[in-house]
Amino acid sequence: MLRTHTCGELRIDNASQETVLCGWVQRVRNKGSVLWVDLRDKYGITQLIFEEGETEKSLFEKATKLGREFVIKATGTVVERHSKNDKIPTGDIEIKVTDLEVLNASKTPPFTIENETDGGEDLRMKYRYLDLRRNTVREKLQLRHRMMQQTRAFLDQADFMEVETPVLIKSTPEGARDFIVPSRMNEGQFYALPQSPQTFKQLLMVSGFDKYFQLVKCFRDEDLRADRQPEFTQIDCEMSFVEREDVLGTFEGLVKHLFKSVKGIDIEQIDRMSYADAMRLYGSDKPDTRFDMQFVELNDVAQGKGFNVFDSAELVLGIKAEGCAEYTRKQLDALTDFVRKPQVGAKGLVYVKCNADGSYKSSVDKFYSQEDLAEWATKCNAKPGDLLLVLSGDIDHTRKAMNELRLHMGSELGLRDKNIYKVLWVLDFPLLEWDEDTERYHAMHHPFTSPLAEDFDKLESAPGGVRANAYDMVINGVEVGGGSIRIHDRGLQQQMFKLLGFSDEEAKAQFGFLMDAFEYGAPPHGGIAFGFDRLCSLFGGSDSIRDYIAFPKNNAGRDVMIDSPSAVSNEQLDELAIALKK
Ligand code: AMO
Repeated sequence: MLRTHTCGELRIDNASQETVLCGWVQRVRNKGSVLWVDLRDKYGITQLIFEEGETEKSLFEKATKLGREFVIKATGTVVERHSKNDKIPTGDIEIKVTDLEVLNASKTPPFTIENETDGGEDLRMKYRYLDLRRNTVREKLQLRHRMMQQTRAFLDQADFMEVETPVLIKSTPEGARDFIVPSRMNEGQFYALPQSPQTFKQLLMVSGFDKYFQLVKCFRDEDLRADRQPEFTQIDCEMSFVEREDVLGTFEGLVKHLFKSVKGIDIEQIDRMSYADAMRLYGSDKPDTRFDMQFVELNDVAQGKGFNVFDSAELVLGIKAEGCAEYTRKQLDALTDFVRKPQVGAKGLVYVKCNADGSYKSSVDKFYSQEDLAEWATKCNAKPGDLLLVLSGDIDHTRKAMNELRLHMGSELGLRDKNIYKVLWVLDFPLLEWDEDTERYHAMHHPFTSPLAEDFDKLESAPGGVRANAYDMVINGVEVGGGSIRIHDRGLQQQMFKLLGFSDEEAKAQFGFLMDAFEYGAPPHGGIAFGFDRLCSLFGGSDSIRDYIAFPKNNAGRDVMIDSPSAVSNEQLDELAIALKK
């Protein structure tokens, strides 16, 4: 190697040793007669010193010409520093340089490459390779690397076999739009990039692979958010001869292993909740269970007292904000503004202050007596000093709005600590979802999900009420994974496609290969896929998965560094027989 040590390893014990270091110039401090250089590599920073009278003149001259981000090789002796820096591990020593080679000069970078940078988001995305030089950014990818290694180690020892499935496939119906790829050799025909390897992993079960996994790129053309990228990575898994309990147990093991090995955290408890309860108590299929504040239905105590808004509502829903009875007018107005935002969608907010003296003060005092309000408080288990927040309307909208308000209050009250992890399984999702626009059912998870055995008989008579043998893993309100026990019977799969509005021909054209496979001895099977980027960002305590992807896309789906997507030449289009709309 060009170097004898890295910039992170020399200590006082190395004093008087000869060393050769390579790295990037982070900073030059030139005091006239003394010049220091902070030399940085992946492992740390080591200070170099050049002194007039001590350092050879031409060498000193050379050092004065160094600029930020020059790549250099410095030879010298390790010496104890006069003024030590206890903020970095190499802070007791510096290198008295005897030889200096500039391996490559650098233009002045567009932003400072230090933990705290002056570069804005756009600029850092454009020069992502420079942003990645910063420790804070690289450490996130190191976390990702550790998660990846630990995932592979756990699944390998549990007898899962990693199999790569193709990337140029036919569209899989996961609910988002496909990215499509034209085929030059098959004019007018297209591949699709996989939204997940769902059908392939099921075929591997038919092949007898028994336990499969893959750390795999998936592609979905959908609206982007902080927790969604058009290409993202799954820990995709499938197992044969299993029931739901086996899958849940296995992947509780994986998640516990990751928390322990990567973060040193013991996850003692993994809770379970039905989809119906999650919606009823939290208004969300991914509740953040780090804090309580469960919904309380107040219809029976709030209706029939002459307050028309509540009387005409399908649902009157309250939550208790502990210790918030002292909220000011301004704070309550801000909460009202919050629930009225279009994303939240409530018309207004009713509050009840449970005063310290046992009395109540509400925004609907005109309609409710102190005794009435006391009943609300009892239902909500509120004590003097607490604040009740109440919304009403139709069931779906009220639950949705209350979910937003609950999360907002949780954040405001500091109840969503990033260092606390609550892991939850949400079970028994509905199998089907009615879509008003197309007037047909959609699979809530995907069409290969098996109904719960006890609901089989409702498939014909009341399909909307059938529950799926499906499960999601939710950590701190983030859906980190989802899966199901699959259908492995051709007849049932055919019935499912029918329910979803596929004609026999359509089902055959799209999924004939899978249904055919089911006729050659398909074992009972089930599995799950985790959103790997989401797991990483949760472990790293960040809301954005972008930070955990080396070269991410922005919110418009663009890679601004390589400038993609981009136009292609007319020759390329001709070859593909594609004509662009004028
Ligand atoms: P599902 O569609 O629920 O299931 O996806 C599994 C997990 O992948 C993550 N995820 C995403 N992460 C980042 N960006 C995206 N655009 C994105 N979309 C999804 C989520 C999600 O929980 N084949 C089934 C799995 C199965 O049934 O085994 C599937 O893909 O964390």
